[in-house]
Amino acid sequence: MPDNLTVIPNDLNAFWMPFTANRQFKSQPRMLSKAKDMHYETIDGRKILDGTAGLWCVNAGHSRPKIVNAVQNQVAELDYAPAFQMGHPKAFELANRLIDITPKGLNKVFYTNSGSESVETALKIALAYHKINGDGGRTRLIGRERGYHGVNFGGISVGGIVNNRKMFGTLLGGVDHLPHTHLPDKNAFSRGQPEHGAELADELERIATLHDPSTIAAVIIEPIAGSTGVLIPPKGYLERIRKICDKHGFLLIFDEVITGFGRLGSPFAADYFGVTPDIITTAKGLTSGVIPMGAVIVTEKIHDSFMNGPENMIEFFHGYTYSGNPIAAAAGIGTLETYSDENLLTRGSKLAKYWEDKLHSLNEHPFVIDIRNIGLIGAIELQAIDGMPTKRAFNAFLKAFEKGCLIRTTGDIIALSPPLIITESQIDELIDCIGKVLHEIE
Ligand SMILES: Cc1ncc(COP(=O)(O)O)c(C=O)c1O
Repeated sequence: MPDNLTVIPNDLNAFWMPFTANRQFKSQPRMLSKAKDMHYETIDGRKILDGTAGLWCVNAGHSRPKIVNAVQNQVAELDYAPAFQMGHPKAFELANRLIDITPKGLNKVFYTNSGSESVETALKIALAYHKINGDGGRTRLIGRERGYHGVNFGGISVGGIVNNRKMFGTLLGGVDHLPHTHLPDKNAFSRGQPEHGAELADELERIATLHDPSTIAAVIIEPIAGSTGVLIPPKGYLERIRKICDKHGFLLIFDEVITGFGRLGSPFAADYFGVTPDIITTAKGLTSGVIPMGAVIVTEKIHDSFMNGPENMIEFFHGYTYSGNPIAAAAGIGTLETYSDENLLTRGSKLAKYWEDKLHSLNEHPFVIDIRNIGLIGAIELQAIDGMPTKRAFNAFLKAFEKGCLIRTTGDIIALSPPLIITESQIDELIDCIGKVLHEIE
């Protein structure tokens, strides 16, 4: 293959791109070829400020030396070790380092390769846990409208984003959904947690009564619903959910695939909100997006329930060829070291106010109907063009890329989640770029 084909492909047809408007992309490709710290570089040499940490994952910034070195050294030393019935030191070391930063009581780690797999794993752990404890009638799973829990069948069943579900048959049985918490009439332009809506948690009582609480295994929610466009839990909401779960013996799963690893200025959203679930799902920031890896973190009580029967028997019939993969584990260790060296897991708390003020300075712009923020997350909701939902925000995304900043859109919402190394002047630059975009789009 001539060298330049590795830089500029001459045919874009074979690759069916995920969650992408393929025909639009291929008529107007947006190709990235390099990345360093806060910036991408396009194949034609333009620098793009990363306002989204890739896909909510590059929390440590791009191509950070400790992570790069860890991966390079590991691939040369031990490329792969079987994940079943064999071990290698880095997977254990990463688990030990992880439980130093996870909420108290959550201290057993099961590895996956992605957020979607973490969710499937967590749901299976929840069902098996009840069965092992002689409570096998608990088979129902409760998710939430507008929730995103990845793209596999369990995840789309408990998830509540209609487009992700509607083509795929009947999904898992025995699933019900809490209402979402988006109340724009009452909470628009909230800073941090909105005031109204805690009572929506009480819908869990209604669902419990409807099905009989003894049939419900677990409730899974994102502490902050990210992919649907940043829905921040109303004050008191998560506390009420926890209380109802405790009352009825439901396991509470927090899907922290985007909120984990410093996004809110604390290691996990559970720390930020002071509400501890029984299971946390993670991925993305675990390796700062560098190598695919996820992890499910559970309480000792859940883990120990599985540790019975003959010692030569597998306790949990579940796992992936790449669970705890050596290169991913090395990337995870390099990532946690980078977070620790640079205090990145709490850096967001120092920048949050600046971020909030800058973001809300966009409130006078045309079409802006809501702005919301928490930690280093922001969302700008735009009035949809009549009859053409998503088009206005997509136009904003294209225009922003032209102007040198990467934003993400979902529906008519611009969602922002920069790497945690962002500086105040880079926040200015990002918001300035979006301000110009909002003036120019129609
Ligand atoms: C809350 C949540 N759960 C699960 C996932 C799925 O992760 P992945 O794309 O790694 O499968 C995502 C991805 O954005 C997410 O935001």
